[in-house]
Amino acid sequence: MMAGTGTAHMRSGQDRVLVVDDLVVEFPAGRGQKVHAVSGVSFDLLDGETLGILGESGCGKSSAGRAVMQLPSPKSGSVRLDGTELTGLTPRTLRTRRKKMQMILQDPVSSLNPRRRVRDLVAEGLSIWGTRPSREQVESVLSSVGLDPAVVWDRRPHELSGGQCQRICIARALMLDPRVLICDEPVSSLDVSVQAQILNLLEETKSRYDLSMIFIAHDLAVVKNISDRIMVMYLGKVCEVTPSARLAGSALHPYTRLLLASVPEADPATDDQAADGRAAGSRSPGGLAEPGEKSVELPSPLNPPSGCRFRTRCPLATDRCAAEEPLLREVGDGHYLACHNMGN
Ligand SMILES: Nc1ncnc2c1ncn2[C@@H]1O[C@H](COP(=O)(O)OP(=O)(O)OP(=O)(O)O)[C@@H](O)[C@H]1O
Ligand code: SF4
Ligand SMILES: [Mg+2]
Repeated sequence: MMAGTGTAHMRSGQDRVLVVDDLVVEFPAGRGQKVHAVSGVSFDLLDGETLGILGESGCGKSSAGRAVMQLPSPKSGSVRLDGTELTGLTPRTLRTRRKKMQMILQDPVSSLNPRRRVRDLVAEGLSIWGTRPSREQVESVLSSVGLDPAVVWDRRPHELSGGQCQRICIARALMLDPRVLICDEPVSSLDVSVQAQILNLLEETKSRYDLSMIFIAHDLAVVKNISDRIMVMYLGKVCEVTPSARLAGSALHPYTRLLLASVPEADPATDDQAADGRAAGSRSPGGLAEPGEKSVELPSPLNPPSGCRFRTRCPLATDRCAAEEPLLREVGDGHYLACHNMGN
């Protein structure tokens, strides 16, 4: 494995569907500046696994997801799907390979063509490949995402709820028989009452269609239950990777701990009073200090801090944190940490 980019958490073996190595995404920002959206992120995904990617707004989650899809290709780094390198492929070959990865986005309503009817929206993914699916195929996939074909068949997106539109997006993806589903905040725009239904549907779909999943979210409560492992990102870098079942009890990175402390979660293992106490203490959105708040310097992705990118907000920062980038290292079974001062 490559040294220097924090790849201690990468596994080996045949059952890795996706291997992403040292991904770099940058955007031009005028006057010769660039946004360092993703700076050397690596991860892998086993057959049937769900990897949660967690981090606050702007940390590069979507940029990483899109770069995996080659939408657009990353500035550098490698993305291997079932052993095939996707970066550097010709557009035609890429289109064929990428079919095996489908993305579900945050805003289902606007990701659907408003003029098309459900039957065409679901069929069109396959149609662009020259295969017109049969009516039975479309009806079957609609049923499998919990929609009654007879009811929605002729409807257009504006005649459906947000949750129904997300079901349509999932159906469209399934028509292409993917191996990997990249879900980018798939429930963030939905009513809370609908969120659980869509999360359940994604879990059912994953096992029924034998999928692997990347689940991107800024909301810990959402990502925790659905994921096998969680990768925490901060300002374009990976801070910590841990089995999700052990996140609450064993997280070590000061940023992960900040995220955990800010989420009032209903954890059956925690007694109600303790949970209530936590909730009352810290309910700021995302729980993170807002710009302008005392003693917090929010760094810019245009000019990220040297060494550890979290150091300007870290209560444990030392001189070493400014001088030397902490790389991921193993601190427990399946638990990897990028921090100089924790886990020693
Ligand atoms: N097309 C673009 N052009 C310029 N900058 C961009 C572009 N897309 C993203 N960025 C910047 O890259 C950084 C990472 O953005 P990204 O959307 O990947 O974060 P995110 O973690 O998905 O955030 P959110 O939770 O808000 O969706 C941010 O600073 C963002 O402003
Ligand atoms: S490396 Fe230093 S600044 Fe970064 S999280 Fe650890 S203690 Fe904080
Ligand atoms: Mg995003």
